[in-house]
Amino acid sequence: MYFLPEKLDEYVVAHSQEEPELLQQLTRETYQKILQPIMLSGPYQGRVLSMISKLIRPKTILELGTFTGYATLCLAEGLQSEGEIHTIDVNEELIDFQRKYFDQSGFGSQIHQHLGSAIDIIPTLNNTFDLVFIDADKPNYVNYFHLIIDKLNPGGIILSDNVLWHGKVIEPVDKKDISTQAVLEFNTLLKNDKRIETVVLPIRDGLTISRKK
Ligand SMILES: C[S@@+](CC[C@H](N)C(=O)[O-])C[C@H]1O[C@@H](n2cnc3c(N)ncnc32)[C@H](O)[C@@H]1O
Repeated sequence: MYFLPEKLDEYVVAHSQEEPELLQQLTRETYQKILQPIMLSGPYQGRVLSMISKLIRPKTILELGTFTGYATLCLAEGLQSEGEIHTIDVNEELIDFQRKYFDQSGFGSQIHQHLGSAIDIIPTLNNTFDLVFIDADKPNYVNYFHLIIDKLNPGGIILSDNVLWHGKVIEPVDKKDISTQAVLEFNTLLKNDKRIETVVLPIRDGLTISRKK
């Protein structure tokens, strides 16, 4: 779904930074070999993630929902030289695919893959984080926020993906539609939680930036 008219969206993409060659390869292979390739962040959102990460210069990043590692590599572009990313995904079949691209990127030794449910893994991480990207299963977004907020450093940023959920956030909600209900609850939580400041950006499927005070 385009939130801008399609032609204007194309103009925005055409006048933004080019996608690095390695990410183009990763995208091609994802579309050839992996189910639901549409899940990867894609060239425009990827450049936005890279830019935000470069502005923050994080020492530690946490990503929930690695998929094939596209956003991991975009976020890694802003890491401090000694920095590291912890990225969690429940899908075991993606581990080797991710590692192949992580190692080709030059960030390989800074990226730590965690296999399992994010709900189980987050409490086992002893780090605090400067930047967190929430991009896993929607029904757990609220739980993820509660698990990470105390691990976020003051001034730290949470980026949350798919917060407009294909525009469903402004439509009547089916009682069986757990994901839309979860996204609505999450968006209200971010707006009202006094520990953070939040702005929703209408980028791709909606990307929220929340800053811890
Ligand atoms: C939208 S994709 C992530 C896309 C990736 N961040 C990117 O931008 O390229 C969502 C991922 O979350 C993973 N996932 C779903 N439920 C999960 C859970 N409970 N814990 C950890 N990962 C989960 C899926 O396996 C999938 O790879």
